Amino acid sequence: MSQWSPSSWREKPILQQPTYPDQAKLQGVLSELKNYPPLVFAGEVRSLKEQLANVANGRAFLLQGGDCAESFSEFHADNIRDTFKALMQMAVVMTYAGGLPVVKVGRLGGQFAKPRSSDVETQGDITLDSYRGDIINSVEFSKEARVPDPERMIRAYNQAAATQNLLRAFASGGLADLHQVHKWTLDFAHQGEATQKYEKLADDIERSLQFMEACGVTSKSYRTLRETDFYTSHEALLLPYEEAFSRKDSITGDWYNVAAHMVWIGDRTRQLDGAHVEYMRGIKNPIGIKAGPSMDPDELVKLANALNPDNEAGRLNIIVRMGADKVADGLPPLIRAIEKEGLQVVWSCDPMHGNTIKSSNNYKTRPVDAILSEMKQFFQVHKAEGTHAGGVHLEMTGKNVTECIGGTFTVTEEDLSSRYHTHCDPRLNADQSLELAFLIADSLKEAYK
Ligand code: PEP
Ligand code: CO
Repeated sequence: MSQWSPSSWREKPILQQPTYPDQAKLQGVLSELKNYPPLVFAGEVRSLKEQLANVANGRAFLLQGGDCAESFSEFHADNIRDTFKALMQMAVVMTYAGGLPVVKVGRLGGQFAKPRSSDVETQGDITLDSYRGDIINSVEFSKEARVPDPERMIRAYNQAAATQNLLRAFASGGLADLHQVHKWTLDFAHQGEATQKYEKLADDIERSLQFMEACGVTSKSYRTLRETDFYTSHEALLLPYEEAFSRKDSITGDWYNVAAHMVWIGDRTRQLDGAHVEYMRGIKNPIGIKAGPSMDPDELVKLANALNPDNEAGRLNIIVRMGADKVADGLPPLIRAIEKEGLQVVWSCDPMHGNTIKSSNNYKTRPVDAILSEMKQFFQVHKAEGTHAGGVHLEMTGKNVTECIGGTFTVTEEDLSSRYHTHCDPRLNADQSLELAFLIADSLKEAYK
């Protein structure tokens, strides 16, 4: 294989990139970004890889979730806090009711660039370039707003830095203390079955903590009761930005992406000889690769070998996003191909991207039933194949949005317009996420009994 460098992707065919009209401005911004401080450290990235190796071996479960697209307009401490709380709630449900440690990874602190199914968007008789995420252009439907502006990368970096800083504070500054288990319930949570089950589970945990405290095991003396490890991730789509945040670790001499702990390749940019695979093969971070219905088993094996030549457990996360109607047939051939070669991977289920539909009133939405069904089938297939259902990859928020239809507190098509805030794909709200967490916990119990 040819020599890798942070810029060797530039020699390969590339998809889903903006065309910047002002190249001089682009170069100026990239030179500036190359001097900006890292957002994560190589040592943390290695810890995540170790934890993901446990996931690959069935000793832990991966919870990865957050926005489809972070936006400049939704940037607010409360949004970050609520998504963090929703993830903590889900994690504690899976750990306590499901019985496995949970590795927590946010789709946060840098999840800005979006692949699009079309290069253009038409409204009425006007056709403009598509919105590609706030790091590239603006969602506003005007010609000027859709011009890619390199300065947006600087704003995205600053927002990512502030977001990751707050997440670190939450993870180690008290909010993640297990004694806060009741406080993770979001103010607007409906008093339904999932919330009631959660409150009961939180009571049980509190009682256990009181007992342990009486035995001398306190938050003060045990870091694991007081703090959590919380990691960040995003799709490494906008490669000039990712290149600027590729740095050589002074301890090992290896290259790392230092904008997030984990990065992934989208379903539209995973060509074996393409730029995104070229970039990802040279960095040492744990990486994800999306596998949609068009993924061929032989191609997946070739990608796994190219991206993880040392067959390191914890390096490669295959994020399956088939859709509820395709996963039962589509997943087994992929699992068998990987197993036949003895490749070590984490299998995650993204039950979002294969279940997107248009509502009759023209909203992009997802039925919660289809999401739950794909998740359930993902567990069933792994059980039948004798492999580990390792994780889940979600578009969700701690906010009370109405973007996905269904759930116990049924969001109807008519409700979609009331709190539809996403800039891109529809997210599960806090109630719907908690419902899914209980389904996963039950499936974990079933899988490991
Ligand atoms: C995404 O995760 O937001 C996404 C675009 O997914 P995929 O590449 O699987 O379509
Ligand atoms: Co999405």
